[in-house]
Amino acid sequence: MAKNKESTSFVVTVAVVLSLVCATLVSLAAISLKPIQDVNAAKEKKKNILMAAGIYQEGGDIEALFNDNIEVIAIEIPSGAAASDIDVSTFDAVKAAKDPNKGQALAHDPAKIGYIANHALVYQLVEAGRVEKVILPIRGYGLWGTMFGFLAMNKDGKTVEGLTFYEHKETPGLGAEIANPDWQATWVGKQPYDANNIPKMSLVKSISSDPIVAGHQVDTLAGATLTSRGVEATVNFWLGEQGYGPYLNQLASQE
Ligand SMILES: Cc1cc2nc3c(=O)[nH]c(=O)nc-3n(C[C@H](O)[C@H](O)[C@H](O)COP(=O)(O)O)c2cc1C
Repeated sequence: MAKNKESTSFVVTVAVVLSLVCATLVSLAAISLKPIQDVNAAKEKKKNILMAAGIYQEGGDIEALFNDNIEVIAIEIPSGAAASDIDVSTFDAVKAAKDPNKGQALAHDPAKIGYIANHALVYQLVEAGRVEKVILPIRGYGLWGTMFGFLAMNKDGKTVEGLTFYEHKETPGLGAEIANPDWQATWVGKQPYDANNIPKMSLVKSISSDPIVAGHQVDTLAGATLTSRGVEATVNFWLGEQGYGPYLNQLASQE
């Protein structure tokens, strides 16, 4: 007997089967693409580390550039000391932050990250066997979500060598200008610490003519005051006592 293709049960059955097939295909695609996405995400991070370090070459071999120039070490954030017990190939600062054995909730939280890990990975640019710059992972809340980036500091522990953001949720043309290389380049050479060794970077509408004050200032992002406030808080937090301050002090004392 021929099926009644207009019956409710037939339509429902076709709809259910079609949904299941589509759901399976989407799931399979997501599962099979995940390793490729992970590789690309890791590559994008390395590219941003090289950019912050000032040694990225367009079209260059990112893996080779990274392996030839960058040494990854783990540090204990509160003391700034090297932490040889951390496996740098698997450590994930964001995951560790929320693990009560590996991180803690922040009482003072200007970058609005909630939690911080006890350890961090630090990328050292080594030239002729000497650490010349350190590239520090930073993160903080913008207007729409957490911004992830890298801040490169000179071995003097005081001078900015680069800033990049590789993941964020800010609006294209507004807050997303944090990823604009021209704006990022304006950070190079800035001196974030004041006379009391407190980080005081500020994003301003007009940069002071006083070079000492200008050393703490970068142009605010047009039409993106809230993202700019987030960047300011993020950089100052990570350069401070709760962030990489102790590590940078140690680095400077080895000069
Ligand atoms: C659709 C939309 C997207 C926006 N995206 C951002 C953003 O990414 N970052 C930001 O700081 N402000 C963003 N704003 C603007 C803020 O709401 C706010 O007006 C702005 O931060 C004030 O900055 P201004 O004083 O420089 O104009 C957005 C506004 C709209 C309507």
